[in-house]
Amino acid sequence: MNSKKLVVFGFGARGRIYADFANKYPELFTLVAIIENNPERIEDAKKDYKDVPVFSDYHDFLAKHVHADVVAVCTQDADHKEHAIAMMEAGYNLLLEKPIANNEEDCLKIYESSIKNNRRVIVCHVLRYSPFYSTIKRIIDEGKIGEVVSIQASENVGYYHQAHSFVRGPWKNSKESSPMILAKCCHDMDIIRWLIGEKCKSVNSYGSLLYFNKEHAPVGSSEYCSDCKYKDCIYNAQHLYLETDAKNFVGYFTNGEINDSNVLKCLRHSDYDRCVFKSDNDVVDHEVTIMNFANGKTASHTMSAFSKDIYRDIKIYATKAQLIGLMEDNHIEIKYFGGENEIVDVDISKANVGGHNGSDYFMMNSLFKTLNGEIAPGVTYLDVSLDSHLICFAAEKSRTNNGMTVFIGE
Ligand SMILES: NC(=O)c1ccc[n+]([C@@H]2O[C@H](COP(=O)([O-])OP(=O)(O)OC[C@H]3O[C@@H](n4cnc5c(N)ncnc54)[C@H](O)[C@@H]3O)[C@@H](O)[C@H]2O)c1
Repeated sequence: MNSKKLVVFGFGARGRIYADFANKYPELFTLVAIIENNPERIEDAKKDYKDVPVFSDYHDFLAKHVHADVVAVCTQDADHKEHAIAMMEAGYNLLLEKPIANNEEDCLKIYESSIKNNRRVIVCHVLRYSPFYSTIKRIIDEGKIGEVVSIQASENVGYYHQAHSFVRGPWKNSKESSPMILAKCCHDMDIIRWLIGEKCKSVNSYGSLLYFNKEHAPVGSSEYCSDCKYKDCIYNAQHLYLETDAKNFVGYFTNGEINDSNVLKCLRHSDYDRCVFKSDNDVVDHEVTIMNFANGKTASHTMSAFSKDIYRDIKIYATKAQLIGLMEDNHIEIKYFGGENEIVDVDISKANVGGHNGSDYFMMNSLFKTLNGEIAPGVTYLDVSLDSHLICFAAEKSRTNNGMTVFIGE
């Protein structure tokens, strides 16, 4: 099998992961072009990938008719419609970052374009490929726990991650980006839909922006943490970006070398220095969604900003056993009715590239197989991914209408 030709469109946090993957596994992918319009990132791309052409305008890329097997569309959510459709019209298959798009209409337009142009689109629901969730899926498919009746899942965003991404960063405002339930939880809805194995019929959702708002700003606090007297605030930006796991996010605002003094210099009076109580954020900081699936199956999902660590957990109630899992620990336990409990071994030996507990690595391997016409478990084509997005749009409609029942597909 030949190495597949890959184009990275958007050399940001996600795009770099795919470029790095190709660099590390040349037998699977060869990076043939990068499309990026941010001057600093263009410099980074040229420095890191000297032999790869970098296009600052995607129209110039299209004019060159570069031969490629797949274009990874890794620009921001609101740009996916324009970029995905332009690439498909030009004949490229896509690896499309999730969410497909930030509203239902655009998702459907992308879907229609894929049909019209007969293009394959794989959506990056990376969690499906994780050793943790793929093991759970295998357990269900083997019938070990019987028929799944109900799922209870939670996504704990992490207080510093919420502050970085959803209060100060790219996904803070639903009009500029996406509602929280889509930006953060479409993976979870995809996993729930996948494990329950039925279509979702209706959704109710409740949630609000309870804490990260002006009412909670300490008296006399400043617009920017740099100028603020409350240096011991949990959300003090200088503390978060230098002394906590939020260090991993400094690339969002730091140009040039990553060291403490440069990070502080770039941080000062940037969006990431803003008081978390005075930003222009509107996405929720907590949300509970309940779902009614075909055949009377049910699920609930809780998203919360208010956790120390970032983690997901799941409880699956099935006819022969209960399954309890904690993703970050790769811990899965089955409690058989009338039998012994079993701790299931999750093989994480190959989980070595990118984030999401190795999911990026496995996803890229599956993409390679798919492009070679092989069957790759877990691969999420656009039509399947649409299901999870429709759950998210229904949840947002319900949440903004006092939790009213929203029926899907009616
Ligand atoms: N699969 C996942 O788990 C996962 C995780 C995080 C983010 N995402 C999604 O991935 C996408 C990218 O997120 P990110 O964190 O990498 O964002 P990012 O802002 O770091 O990267 C986007 C890049 O696209 C470039 N860009 C924007 N418009 C362009 C244009 N017209 N031409 C060329 N380049 C352009 C930007 O300059 C930037 O470098 C988003 O849709 C996001 O929601 C997915």
